[in-house]
Formats: sequence, structure tokens, C-alpha cells
Amino acid sequence: MDEKTQRFVAEQLRKPSGAFAAEMGERMNAGNRLLNFRAFAGMTLTPGAHILELGMGNGAFVRDLLALAPDLVYTGIDYSPEMVDAANLANKGLIESGRVRIIEAVAEKLPFDAGTFDVALSVNTVYFWDDFPAVAGELHRVLRRDGELTLGLRPRSVMQQYPFVQNGFAMFSAAELCQALGECDFSDFRISEEEEPSQDAGGEEVPVRSLVVSARARG
Ligand SMILES: C[S@@+](CC[C@H](N)C(=O)[O-])C[C@H]1O[C@@H](n2cnc3c(N)ncnc32)[C@H](O)[C@@H]1O
Repeated sequence: MDEKTQRFVAEQLRKPSGAFAAEMGERMNAGNRLLNFRAFAGMTLTPGAHILELGMGNGAFVRDLLALAPDLVYTGIDYSPEMVDAANLANKGLIESGRVRIIEAVAEKLPFDAGTFDVALSVNTVYFWDDFPAVAGELHRVLRRDGELTLGLRPRSVMQQYPFVQNGFAMFSAAELCQALGECDFSDFRISEEEEPSQDAGGEEVPVRSLVVSARARG
């Protein structure tokens, strides 16, 4: 992968946009499906819980998430208008039934009152939190007291194999992520790190792992 392509891939992963956005959404679904489902499995989902997802992309897995407990309600935010449109389309029925809302917003300034959500989820976005304390602080603010945040990501050991990460990706091991979250008033960490089938990284098959970290918002 030449440098120009690396930059393009990095930009599209950070914020899918323009003519390539729809394809990027599909590619993310294929590559990230298992990680998303492992993140769902790491969440504490009680009946009727209100879920916030930050950076849901095209929202392909919202229906699967809502099937995991009765009466779950979901709000997804993303700052890519193309992803918001795609997620609205993919979840039309659930939106009409009132169980799903998709909103265009930035992670650093969430348009919700304090304590709105029981649980929060974000998969493959933490690499792009340029101001980590600002995003973690916003997630903490909109979670209820002792609400739970679950982050799904590829750990540093996997990310550093990808050629495009030189273009502004923050990388974390489990310990590094827990430390950063701890500095933002999250505690009670649960960590799960598991292997996945290998994936293509710039023409080369590389080993892949899922990292899922859950933590509680201290009161
Ligand atoms: C790599 S994609 C991951 C999509 C999906 N969660 C997945 O696992 O396949 C990152 C998504 O987060 C969104 N995103 C990144 N930074 C964001 C921010 N600061 N505010 C809102 N959305 C953001 C991007 O637009 C994109 O849809």
C-alpha cells in the first residue's frame, strides 16, 4: 500500500465520506463483525436499558444488539453524515417503532443531558479520540451513576501491524486503556482479549485479536 493509499484508508476509517463512504461502511462490517459481537457480549444489558453507541458507522448490527435483552432502547451517534444516513436507512423499522434514534453529533460534545444512558458502547473509535479526556468525560457525563461503558478495539499489538496507523491513530494495550479510563473517573474494569481469524493488512495476512474493556462511571 503506497503512502497516498494509506492516508486515504486512514481518513476513511476516521470519518467515512464521499463516494467511498458506502463501500467503507460495508468493509468495516465485514472486518469488524466479530469484534462488535464480542463487545455486545461484554455489555451488561438489563431489560429496558437505554444504550448509547458512539460511532455506529452504518448501523448494521443495531438489530442484533437490541435482540440481546427485552425492551432495549438505542441511540447511535456519528459525525459522518453518510454513516448517519446509512444507519437511518438500515434501521428504518426500529426507528419507526421508537426503539432506535440515530443522530449526527461529535463525540467531544454529546447533545444529551447528564445521566441519560444506562450503558454506552463504542467499537473501533478510540483510535480517533484526539482529546481522550474530552470524549471519555462526555461519555461519563451522559451515563447514569455507575453506568457502564464498553469499548471494543484492536489492541496495540495488532494495530501496529497495519501500515495506515502512522496517520494519526492512537493505540492502546488493555493496561494502557484501563489507565486512561481510570484517569477519567471510570473504574471496575473487566477485560477480555481473544484471537480472531487472521485478516489482510495491506496485502499481507496478519494475526488479529479483539480487545473488549468494560468499566463503570464512578459517581
Ligand atoms: C472505524 S469506524 C467504526 C465503525 C463501527 N463502530 C465498526 O466497528 O465497524 C469509526 C466510526 O466512528 C465515527 N467517529 C470517529 N470519530 C468520531 C467523533 N469524534 N465523533 C463522532 N463520530 C466519530 C466515524 O465517522 C466512523 O463511522
